[in-house]
Amino acid sequence: MSEEVKKFKITIDGQTTEVDAGTTILEAARKIGGKSVPPAMCYYKPLETSGGRCRTCLVEVSKGSEADPRPMPKLVASCRTAVMDGMEVKNLTSEKAQTGRKAVTEFLLLNHPLDCPICDQAGECHLQDLGYQHGVENTRTEFERRTFEPEDIGPYIKLHMNRCILCARCVLTANQLTEEREHGILFRGDHAEISTYLNKALTNDFIGNVIDVCPVGALTDKTSRFASRVWFTKPMDAHCNCDKCSGKAVLWMKDDEIIRVTARKNQYDEVEDFICNECRFEKKDPKLWTIEGPRHIDRHSVISLNHYEKPKDYFRQIDNRDAKEISASDDNQHGEKILE
Ligand code: SF4
Ligand code: FES
Repeated sequence: MSEEVKKFKITIDGQTTEVDAGTTILEAARKIGGKSVPPAMCYYKPLETSGGRCRTCLVEVSKGSEADPRPMPKLVASCRTAVMDGMEVKNLTSEKAQTGRKAVTEFLLLNHPLDCPICDQAGECHLQDLGYQHGVENTRTEFERRTFEPEDIGPYIKLHMNRCILCARCVLTANQLTEEREHGILFRGDHAEISTYLNKALTNDFIGNVIDVCPVGALTDKTSRFASRVWFTKPMDAHCNCDKCSGKAVLWMKDDEIIRVTARKNQYDEVEDFICNECRFEKKDPKLWTIEGPRHIDRHSVISLNHYEKPKDYFRQIDNRDAKEISASDDNQHGEKILE
C-alpha cells in the first residue's frame, strides 16, 4: 500500500499554498510563483546537494509552525530550510530579509569586479540583477581585492576567477554529469578558488554545461566570447539529431549567424536538458539545426528588459491559481524597487 505523503500549509508574503512535507521554503515559493520567489545564486534544482552557500535566498520566518508559532530568531536560507505545517514566511514584505539580502550582495561584490560592460554574462547575470536591486553606491572597504589572470581551462572554456562567487554549481555539474571531474574548489576560506587539477583540462563530453550553470561570468564560452552583447542576439528554440544528448537547444542568432548555443532554461535559469559539447561548441551552422521558433525568455534581467518576448502571464501565479496576484505596484510597497 502506498504511503500517503503529508501535506503542509505555508504562507509566503500573505499567499498560501500546500506542499509535500520535506519541501523547502524556496520550492514552496516557486510553487506560488511571482515576485515572492527569493533569488538563488547557488541553489540549482537539477543539481543534487546544491544550495546553502551564497545566502541570497534569505527569508524571515515570522511563524515557525502551527504547533510552535514562535518566529525563527535569525533569517534562514530558504533553499535549505524545510517547510513546517502552518509556517509563515516573509520575503518581499520583510524589511529584515531585504536588509539581509543587501548585506549579502555587498559581501558577494567585495572581490567581484564591476566589469559588466565587458562581461559576456551581462544581461543574464544574477549578481548584476542583485547589484541593481540591492547594491550600495560606494564601497565601505579599502583592502586590496583578490585578483587573478583569466585562465584557459580547456579547449572551450575560459575561467575569470575574479568573477567567481564560489557557488560550486560547476563542480556539482562536473561531478554529476561527466564521468571524470577534472576541476574543483582548491584551498580554503578567502584563498578558495576554482581550478583544474594539475595538467588537466576540461574536455569531458558534457563539461560545457558548467558555463550554463555559472550564475556570473566566471566561466565563459571561448567559441562565442565577445562576439555580441546578449541582448543584440535573438534566442531561437532549435533541435538536431544527436546521439549524445537530446539535441534540444537555444540558438542565439544575429541574422543567419549562430553566435552561441546554450541549453534550454526555465524561468529560474535552470537547465531543462543538459546538452553535449558537440551541440554547444561545434554546431554553429544553421543547416545542422531545425529551428522551431523564437524562445520565450521567462526570467527577467535588468539589461535584457524589453528585448525578449514577455510571457503573456508574467504577472500571473505559476502553479497556484488561487494565490493572490502580485502586480507591478507591489514593487514600491516596501520601499524597494523590484526591477522587471
Ligand atoms: S566558476 Fe561559476 S559556477 Fe563555478 S563556483 Fe565560480 S561562480 Fe560558481
Ligand atoms: S541559494 Fe540558498 S544559500 Fe544560495
